[in-house]
Amino acid sequence: PLVTSKEMLYQAQKDHYAVGAFNVENMEMIMAVIEAGEEMQSPVILQTTPSTVNYADLNLYYASVKARADQASVPVALHLDHGSSYELAMKALREGYTSIMIDGSHYSLEKNIALTKRVADACRPHLIPVEAELGRVGGKEDDLDGGNGGLTSPEEAAYFVEKTGIDFLAVSIGTAHGVYKGEPNVRVDLLKQIRKKVSIPLVLHGTSGVPDDVVRECIQEGISKVNYATDLRIAYTKGVRQILEGDESIIDPKLYGKRGKELVKRYVVDRISACRSIGRG
Ligand code: 13P
Ligand code: ZN
Ligand code: NA
Repeated sequence: PLVTSKEMLYQAQKDHYAVGAFNVENMEMIMAVIEAGEEMQSPVILQTTPSTVNYADLNLYYASVKARADQASVPVALHLDHGSSYELAMKALREGYTSIMIDGSHYSLEKNIALTKRVADACRPHLIPVEAELGRVGGKEDDLDGGNGGLTSPEEAAYFVEKTGIDFLAVSIGTAHGVYKGEPNVRVDLLKQIRKKVSIPLVLHGTSGVPDDVVRECIQEGISKVNYATDLRIAYTKGVRQILEGDESIIDPKLYGKRGKELVKRYVVDRISACRSIGRG
């Protein structure tokens, strides 16, 4: 069924595992993530960025995820990732998204607080949880450019959570969106300091390319939602390429879509295992 991410993440926090949040862009990726969740009997979060909902409207993603989630035996949440404005967040809320991120991390602290609080206040009566970001996860995702990023300050994090009333906090601890050049320096020490000051579930962004053992360490120290985007795009496109490469006679979109879907599903199954959410559905 389609549920909110709130119960999911509180349960994960309580039992020291995390729920994988996977960025989807088309029907094949939606099917792949939900099938992986079912195969692993794990809850899953599907998420779409502003540029994705600009490619196809929110209502198309909602309808597809809802249709598939209703048949699924595991909890599925649909999340707006890096919501870029109050208006977009409200549109997602009206459309039926069950989890919403507002990302004001590129603004000043006060402006980030004002925007985030406005979204949190609007979502609360509908019981839809809100994620927000403090500090800035670097790298590039879609048309969103976090530049070099900036680490989250533990003191500021406590203040931010108290002032905004958000449900989950995205932290910047050395990960970056996109593909890494070399190994990322993930600051588990900083995560521990944030955890001491903030009690709500914490979210790790930029996780494509972060080794699974580092992800597990972060989960141990309080991360409850783990975001993967870039590696799903890579997997899907690789699958499509495998089929199309060198064979111009192929014209059936189902043939290459199927292979793309298979590779995404395989990737998601492995990440669910890294998140230790197997059997938690
Ligand atoms: P990656 O693209 O590095 O996996 O980051 C995903 C993310 O943070 C989505 O919000
Ligand atoms: Zn992100
Ligand atoms: Na990354």
